[in-house]
Amino acid sequence: MKNIDWEDAINKRRSTRSYDIRPVEQSKIDLLESFINDMRMPFEHNVKIRLFRASPDKKLYTVFQSPPDGAAFVSDTDVRSISKAGFLGETFVLYATSLGLATCWYGHYSLAELKRIMPHLGANTGLTKPKYGYGKGVVEGERAICITPLGYWRKEGVRLVDRMQTSFFSHKRKDVGTFLEDGINQDALPPELLYAFDLARKAPSAANSQFWRFKVSPDFKSVSIAMPVGYKHFKWEHPDVDIGICACHFWLGLMMKGIDCKVSLNEEQGRAVWHFEI
Ligand SMILES: Cc1cc2nc3c(=O)[nH]c(=O)nc-3n(C[C@H](O)[C@H](O)[C@H](O)COP(=O)(O)O)c2cc1C
Repeated sequence: MKNIDWEDAINKRRSTRSYDIRPVEQSKIDLLESFINDMRMPFEHNVKIRLFRASPDKKLYTVFQSPPDGAAFVSDTDVRSISKAGFLGETFVLYATSLGLATCWYGHYSLAELKRIMPHLGANTGLTKPKYGYGKGVVEGERAICITPLGYWRKEGVRLVDRMQTSFFSHKRKDVGTFLEDGINQDALPPELLYAFDLARKAPSAANSQFWRFKVSPDFKSVSIAMPVGYKHFKWEHPDVDIGICACHFWLGLMMKGIDCKVSLNEEQGRAVWHFEI
């Protein structure tokens, strides 16, 4: 993995919903392409990150105008695959942030418009529904699990959208202690674990729901990250994507502290559970 300051990227990243309508410089696109080609993940996967060119005069995102560039995270739709799409997608988003680019995880994109600018449905290309996002549950073939614009924040953008960036879809986060299970106190955690959890809690989640839970073994050697059993979000159909994003932040935190770990991902009781053996 590239040697970048992941902590800085995590602290700088915000969902941006107002963009200058200008393309990302070719030199940055080249860096993004080579980052995608060199990504080394601590697990096997089939996730594809695809850059696309969007048409700013067409509606790709429901609440803002698309800048000319974007990226899609494409995978199968079983629980483990979509969670891995979250993990890889966030690594990419943070790298883009480190290049000074603005991003926004987006689940409810226009399927018809994405299909037009980036054919990706293979044998299912005739699909016309759903209108937004890729659908519910497990479906046949690959889908774009989420997409993100890539560009530059238009600071003087439409006032309502500006306000959404700073308040409505807030970037505020709860404490690490809120997410620890089994009565573990955050003050008892080794400093490196606390550091990694602190980055994990800063992960973005749909509507900022922050539904992840952290489990730590009594000897602090194993950690798992998952959503509560049976958790459902009223609007977002794929919360396991967000769990992958959170697991990515935790893994980057361990890496920043020079801690090696074994990462595995299981489907347990219908949801993705990320395990870290330290
Ligand atoms: C998996 C995922 C899907 C998201 N989908 C949308 C979306 O469809 N529309 C939108 O406006 N924001 C979407 N968001 C952005 C969240 O609202 C945002 O991450 C959250 O409010 C936290 O704010 P922050 O990213 O600025 O820290 C999504 C975020 C994630 C992680």
